[in-house]
Amino acid sequence: MRKNIVAGNWKMNTTLNEGVGLAKDVNEALKNVDAKCDVVICVPFTHLYPVAQVIDPAKLGLGAENCADHTKGAYTGEVSASMVVSTGATYVILGHSERRQYYGETAEILKQKVNLALENNLTPIFCIGEVLEQRENGTYLDVVKAQIEDALFDLSAEDFSKLVLAYEPVWAIGTGKTATDDQAQEMHAFIRKVIEDKYGKEVAENTSILYGGSCKPSNAKALFAKPDVDGGLIGGASLDAESFMGIVTAF
Ligand code: PGA
Repeated sequence: MRKNIVAGNWKMNTTLNEGVGLAKDVNEALKNVDAKCDVVICVPFTHLYPVAQVIDPAKLGLGAENCADHTKGAYTGEVSASMVVSTGATYVILGHSERRQYYGETAEILKQKVNLALENNLTPIFCIGEVLEQRENGTYLDVVKAQIEDALFDLSAEDFSKLVLAYEPVWAIGTGKTATDDQAQEMHAFIRKVIEDKYGKEVAENTSILYGGSCKPSNAKALFAKPDVDGGLIGGASLDAESFMGIVTAF
């Protein structure tokens, strides 16, 4: 059966010292709870290796927030999937709406990134989600279906089953406006059906689909109680160990 996962996405927050401190706090807090889910923190590139030194990988997974769409070479400022792996990280967020929106990441670029992540044995946390206008004009299901098809449906069933998906309605990210648990369930069940139609029931049932967008301790329990919501990708609320743990323990 699929895993429940709570993953933090720190985005462009914390200096190195602050980040290492936060990672230590989460690692420490996990010693005192019997977490019913896998717990992951996705941190800035600069923090990956130092954070890897202070966490117990059996209890706390580590991921990057992005990786390059090329293997190596003359791509100033980029960080490759193999570099990410070499720090000790095992996850990478790909296709986050902020990457799509501010850095022009297209389905073609994301295909390359997913392939390189998988070649390097990184688990992609692949993000999809509609903007407010698409939610309001009723096209949101089609939009999300196209995001999945365009970037991921060239994968073999074996490779697809290595992915984690994260549904993040863009209108809910960082806005304090969360999708209701019913809105999340509708979309998650739809995503699972899209996967089933392409790869079959077993792959669909085994794919973890996380919800992201203003998820916090106060709403995590209701969201995670929905049958197709397998955890969360947490931005703002992952920057404080106590609130992050409040979400982890919602399972
Ligand atoms: P948020 O961000 O929890 O701050 O809304 C979620 C995300 O962008 O992954």
